[in-house]
Amino acid sequence: MQPYSLRKSFKVVRILARAYVRHTRKGTPLWGHLYVTRKCNLDCDYCFFKDSAKKDLGLTDLCAVLDKMRSMGVGFLAFHGGEPTLRKDFPEIVRHAHKLGFFTYLNTNGTLLDAAYIDRIGAAGIDVVNLSVDSMDVFAPSCKDIAHTHAAVEQLIEARGRYKFEITANFVLNNQNTELLEATLTYLDSLSIPLSIGFIVRHPTCTTQPPNMFFDQPADKAKLFAMLDRIVQWRKEGRNIIEPISYFEAIKQFVDGKLDWQCLAGRDSIGVDTLGELKFCGTLASEKISIHDLTEASMRDLYGMRKAKYGECEKTCLTNCRFVTQYYYKHPLRFIREVASVRRRLFGRPAR
Ligand SMILES: C[S@@+](CC[C@H](N)C(=O)[O-])C[C@H]1O[C@@H](n2cnc3c(N)ncnc32)[C@H](O)[C@@H]1O
Ligand code: SF4
Ligand code: SF4
Repeated sequence: MQPYSLRKSFKVVRILARAYVRHTRKGTPLWGHLYVTRKCNLDCDYCFFKDSAKKDLGLTDLCAVLDKMRSMGVGFLAFHGGEPTLRKDFPEIVRHAHKLGFFTYLNTNGTLLDAAYIDRIGAAGIDVVNLSVDSMDVFAPSCKDIAHTHAAVEQLIEARGRYKFEITANFVLNNQNTELLEATLTYLDSLSIPLSIGFIVRHPTCTTQPPNMFFDQPADKAKLFAMLDRIVQWRKEGRNIIEPISYFEAIKQFVDGKLDWQCLAGRDSIGVDTLGELKFCGTLASEKISIHDLTEASMRDLYGMRKAKYGECEKTCLTNCRFVTQYYYKHPLRFIREVASVRRRLFGRPAR
């Protein structure tokens, strides 16, 4: 992938290295996911995260959750929703996280970002803005496309140098947008925006996800596999794709029901839902356990608790974010090589 700036590469490696040392000694999590709101201004067909009825913690209580997560050893903090930028006080949340020493990462649909808001999160110290982009042109199933966020992309690029944050993008690969990937990748490449390509997750109980977004028919599967081959080829050629090649190979095995992978949610990472309750991941419901009640001893059991309660949920889920974190957890040196893009900086060649 296109490297982060040297300064940002050092920062993420330094913060995660410290968290990793503590993790090996005490079993504390490296990555944290904080759901700052479940409300959203969009209604993407495939989404099972939005929930306008869910209550959100206020700023003071959220800052206390951040204090707790940092004291637990979390180094990398991803903000999730719903749509985080719906919160007027979100820049204050970022500021507090930055002050605590987190590496901060925002997932956003980008539709509410204007120059003033970008200035506020930039000045607050956001490290990465990860913009959801499912297509270049209008993409009705999600409306997360460059047609809707063109102005925001321009403003982000304008502010990127000033505030030294990175911009990345996330594409949810589904049965309606495989043909739209290449143009999206080419456009983002031209702006030095690395692209994450995540395989659509089918939620076990959500009834609103339309069947036509999944690759259920033999012809759909053939189309998917051909696209995965192209993605692997692009990755080898050094296009700006974030996931390692093994993720795209894993998708094929997953679709064929042959994948055996181990998600480490609960061990490498911890999530906190909008009321300050433990949440293993976006797919599983939140637990009725306040983050403030977790002790170092109970944290060691979280992975076991998840397994006991949810069993082999890996059989029905292959999120890019979880796959990537367990992959780099198992291969930390590859993470350093990838983030720092040593091969690219020294030899002009992509990491594998
Ligand atoms: C839940 S959203 C929250 C942040 C923000 N609202 C957004 O859409 O970027 C986080 C990421 O999950 C992705 N996502 C939502 N539903 C998904 C699904 N069923 N499968 C895979 N990714 C999904 C979104 O596209 C987005 O990139
Ligand atoms: S994917 Fe993001 S933008 Fe779309 S409905 Fe869900 S939370 Fe909102
Ligand atoms: S495999 Fe999927 S559902 Fe299970 S914990 Fe990991 S991310 Fe959640």
